[in-house]
Amino acid sequence: MLENRKILLCVSGGIAVYKAVALVSKLSQAGASVKVIMTESAQQFVQPLTFQVMSRNDVYTDTFDEKDSSVIAHIDLADWADLIIVAPGTANVIGKLANGIGDDMVTTTLLAATAPIWIAPAMNVHMYDHAAVKRNLQQLHEDGIRFIEPSEGFLACGYVGKGRLEEPEKITELVKDYFTREHKLSGKKVVVTAGPTRERIDPVRFLTNFSSGKMGYAMAGAAAEMGAETILISGPVSLPVPSGVTRIQVESAEDMLKAVEAHFDTANYVVKTAAVADYRPKAIANQKMKKQEGGSTIELERTVDILKQLGQQKKNQVLIGFAAETNDVSKYAKEKLTRKNADYIIANDVSEAQAGFESDTNRVTVFGKNDFEQAFDMMPKQQLARQLFEMITDKEESYDS
Ligand code: CTP
Repeated sequence: MLENRKILLCVSGGIAVYKAVALVSKLSQAGASVKVIMTESAQQFVQPLTFQVMSRNDVYTDTFDEKDSSVIAHIDLADWADLIIVAPGTANVIGKLANGIGDDMVTTTLLAATAPIWIAPAMNVHMYDHAAVKRNLQQLHEDGIRFIEPSEGFLACGYVGKGRLEEPEKITELVKDYFTREHKLSGKKVVVTAGPTRERIDPVRFLTNFSSGKMGYAMAGAAAEMGAETILISGPVSLPVPSGVTRIQVESAEDMLKAVEAHFDTANYVVKTAAVADYRPKAIANQKMKKQEGGSTIELERTVDILKQLGQQKKNQVLIGFAAETNDVSKYAKEKLTRKNADYIIANDVSEAQAGFESDTNRVTVFGKNDFEQAFDMMPKQQLARQLFEMITDKEESYDS
């Protein structure tokens, strides 16, 4: 399954180094070509020779030990890799990368890399919880690095908790999934809208909603990962742009409509994750409105329903809408599917804990034509986004064939 795939494994020094040996074995058995770089402390746990035998390749440990004088090893390795995995990822290597420090073969290679980098952290539960480590993880997340979350269980230091390197079998499965999905949207253009809109009342006030943009940004990231040219049209949120994604920032429902229309004709998939305001103030005051005695009324008018308008204009585009409901989810979702002429409505019950606007997880049910209905388990939004695109592209392929 991993024939012709080139994986660079960066091993940093933790007790879980022994699991990295098993990871090389699993990846090689699946057909991947694996090269290994070890930090100095990783070599305290396992000899480079072990990795050399398992990978059947030279193991790199020293930036200045140039094995081939025609190339510079850390640049050459960085360019060689299709995917780079740091396992185990210690607090030290995470801290260095988050701060742009390159002082050994692993960190100089990581800084020179353009291939996707995945880090599988492994450390003591309190270290994993430390404010500095959390800051560094957040920074790397914003820099577009993907994490293979450590699992919970018995740690070598005697504690039970989160910090155990994910099992090599599981990491290998994630790698296989990644390469299977990689080209599924190649040559396709995906337009995703995300976040809330802001509808101005006066120069200092506006109407908006609680949308965090997380689901939309996850959808855009997943589309780019699958090879699509991805345009993310985003309302005001404070989220990093996923790697490989072009972001267009907008404010109001009207701005969003214009931006979507500019890309609609050339789009293959349009994903309307945004929580667009249904109403806006009929007039925007030029000056700050001053308070007065008694109550006040703002007259509102309808905004354009972007999804519905696209539904009327669409030719071959696959149109995917979202529905956030607090009750009768299935009934309302099916009704939106028909009324807005969408191909899919992804519905979630926002009254459910862990499935709301601000949450990092979500549980959805997808509704489609011919009474199609598929429920997904509760999971992190990024993982869910990958599964949603996989399901939808499979289904669309089955219609085409
Ligand atoms: N949507 C849109 N333009 C709007 C309002 C909503 O494109 N002005 C899209 C959203 O991006 C989403 C879908 O429509 O994909 C469903 O959003 P929702 O607000 O739940 O739809 P409504 O039909 O407005 O819902 P309700 O009838 O419950 O008010």
